[in-house]
Amino acid sequence: MILRDMTASDIDAVLLIEQQIHAHPWTRGNFSDALSSGYVCKLAELDSRVIGYAVLMPGVDEAELLDIGIAAPYQRRGYGRAVLALLLEAAARLDKQRVVLEVRASNASAIALYRAQGFVQIGLRRDYYPAQNGREDAILMGREL
Ligand SMILES: CC(C)(COP(=O)(O)OP(=O)(O)OC[C@H]1O[C@@H](n2cnc3c(N)ncnc32)[C@H](O)[C@@H]1OP(=O)(O)O)[C@@H](O)C(=O)NCCC(=O)NCCS
Repeated sequence: MILRDMTASDIDAVLLIEQQIHAHPWTRGNFSDALSSGYVCKLAELDSRVIGYAVLMPGVDEAELLDIGIAAPYQRRGYGRAVLALLLEAAARLDKQRVVLEVRASNASAIALYRAQGFVQIGLRRDYYPAQNGREDAILMGREL
């Protein structure tokens, strides 16, 4: 797997995956805003095929992981862990001291991935996300670099 910078011409491929793996997917506008804002937007490719992506928003001292996704057929093979590890390295190279993120309380696989990569819960936002049946809590997680 290689990780390279995402460009505007990758958004179609990214959206195809995003819409399959998220109940509340990012839109084309979300990805193009992230690119034009200069966020760290990375694409994971395997044999020239897009299999995943991630978006990191650099702040002053910390960076926030805004989105990470691995295409369904490629999940549970270690690619999410590899993409996250490379993003943590990118954040460290930008001299950030920690990476933070928000995740739906029901997203057990993502929470397991983050815990496995050293993230701990640092907060909770009650009823933060719209959900199928009402609202859902956001768990805030962080990891020092
Ligand atoms: C979360 C996601 C990126 C994980 O990617 P992945 O490539 O499947 O994860 P990996 O194979 O690298 O797994 C790494 C670790 O995460 C945990 N994990 C990942 N998927 C899991 C699952 N379905 N159930 C339990 N633990 C899981 C495990 O600890 C796993 O290590 P192990 O396989 O040695 O047990 C992927 O499931 C995904 O794209 N989900 C939909 C999008 C999403 O929810 N993104 C996060 C919120 S923005």
